[in-house]
Formats: sequence, C-alpha cells, structure tokens
Amino acid sequence: RVPTVGIDIGGTKVMAGVVDADGTILERVRTETPDKSKSPKVVEDTIAELVLDLSDRHDVHAVGVGAAGWVDADRATVLFAPHLAWRNEPLREALAARLAVPIMVDNDANTAAWGEWRFGAGRGADHLVMITLGTGIGGGILEAGKVKRGAFGVAGEFGHMQVVPEGHRCPCGNRGCWEQYSSGNALVREARELAAADSPVAHHILDRVKGQIGDITGPLITELAREGDPMCVELLQDIGRWLGVGIANLAAALDPARFVVGGGVSDADELLIGPAREAFRRQLTGRGYRPEATIVRAALGADAGMVGAADLARLVARRFRRAN
Ligand code: BGC
Ligand code: NA
Ligand code: ZN
Repeated sequence: RVPTVGIDIGGTKVMAGVVDADGTILERVRTETPDKSKSPKVVEDTIAELVLDLSDRHDVHAVGVGAAGWVDADRATVLFAPHLAWRNEPLREALAARLAVPIMVDNDANTAAWGEWRFGAGRGADHLVMITLGTGIGGGILEAGKVKRGAFGVAGEFGHMQVVPEGHRCPCGNRGCWEQYSSGNALVREARELAAADSPVAHHILDRVKGQIGDITGPLITELAREGDPMCVELLQDIGRWLGVGIANLAAALDPARFVVGGGVSDADELLIGPAREAFRRQLTGRGYRPEATIVRAALGADAGMVGAADLARLVARRFRRAN
C-alpha cells in the first residue's frame, strides 16, 4: 500500500500529489505551468522538482503523469499539445532520465476518467465519458474499466471537434473548436471582452479587479456568480449550454450511461451543470425514444486527473515489480 505521486499538467498549472492506494491525497504541491514559449525541458524540470520535493517526505514508488496533450499508443510520447510546447516530446524517457522510479504517462482527461471511475462519480459505470473543463476541454472514454484510446492513442479529443464553422481561432490551429466555447479559457475570454468594452454588466467585476482586466480569472467569475452577479451567472450559463450541446453530440456517437464533468470550471457546480442538462435534453437526438445518460459533476473535482494518474502509476509499478 505504498504511496505514488500523481501529476496533472494543465495549460495553466501543474499539480502534484502523493496519493494513497485508496485515493486519499496525503500531500499536494502546485505551481504555474511554464510559459508555452519556453523549451519543453522546462516543464520536465518542473515535474522532476515537484517529485523530488515530495520524495523528501514520502517514500514514492512510482510517478504517474496526466498531460494536457495527445499521448501516443505506447504512452511514451506526447505527440502534440495545443496549450504546451510539446511536439513529439519523448516525455516518459525524459522523466525516466531524471527520476529513479517507474513512470506512467497518459492524457490528463484519461487519467481523470480513471480517477473518477475508481474513486469518484464514475464508480460502477461500465460506460463512462469524462469531460474536463479547464484551459481547454479534455475527454476520456472508459468502457468496462478500460480507457479507450483508439488506434493511435489519441481518442477522446472532444475539445477540438468543430461546433462553429469559421468560429474562434483555437491554439490547435483550427477554428470553432468546442473548447473555444466551453472551457475556462472561453469563460475568461468572454468576461474580459465585456470588461474591455466597459459594458455596464461588467462594472461589478471591474470593481473587484480594480480595473485590471488581466486579473479576471475563472475562479473569480465563479465566485461572483455564486454571489448572484448577473453577468457571471450568464457567462456560466453560456458555457453550460455549449457543454450540454456537445454532450448531446457525444451521446449520439458513444451512448454512455454517465457523463462526468470535471476540471476547474466544474467548481461552479449547478451554475454550470444545470444549464448543461437543459441544453442536453433539448439537443439529444431521439429524445423520448431512448434512455438518457446522466450528467454528474466530478466527485474529485479538479483533483481527478492527479489522483487517477497516481493510481495508474501504481498499476504500472506493480507490473514492473512482477517483471523484475
Ligand atoms: C487538449 C487535450 C487535453 C485538454 C484538457 C485540450 O486542448 O487537446 O489533450 O486533454 O485540452 O487539458
Ligand atoms: Na483523452
Ligand atoms: Zn482546437
């Protein structure tokens, strides 16, 4: 029952935690994700530093990484990452050269799906789809306790399905991707636009950031929405509606029993999930003539990816011990 370290590398922050065999987080540390313009090595150094720091106080037996990018079928290389500097980055090797324990690498939303299935809102679901709303949208498909990876490892990139022709430019290079309409980035972009236009609805949030539009963040918008600020409530409704439309499309394609919504934006809870459920019901094809999937919030919240990565690392370490 030795602890392992789980690391979630998102477009905005890196979270690392020591996690017990039953999913309990014993200690956590976090830092900002190094700027996209920096060399990929800088992110790898950051990961190694966090692990070495935690290893001072814990007997770490394996490290699992959930990375916000397209991880290949061998789960070794990050092929592409819209929000990070990685292009064909041999991440597992690079970390193995810095750390002396078995390393597991997977996509961040896949590890989140695993974490929720093992310890959270996905327990008991044989057909589960995970959606994480953070910097972008992450996706994970879990069937009968297995993450579906597709032929090349990169299944579940739901965030880059086009929902608006000629829509907003996405860092992946395309336009109109789903994550441009339903993510933390989308939420912040819209709020900052209203603030920059000096819209009357934005005066409250502008007061809160003392006119510093760059200080408007997702958590602040959620906080104000909870207090009843109409603009922030409406922005979360918009994000939620787009979420529901996308989920209806995914139901048409994949027909899972349960959708679990995680990532930082899911902290908004019913302010996000309520409008998502409504839009889903309006949009679901064949409605009234088919069973309907449920949409629930991630029980582990924004920790799902980290906890899932640590648990997957435990499995890898076990296999490693058996083989040696
Ligand atoms: C990336 C995914 C990632 C997601 C969430 C997307 O932009 O393409 O690989 O899982 O963001 O971090
Ligand atoms: Na995925
Ligand atoms: Zn895209």
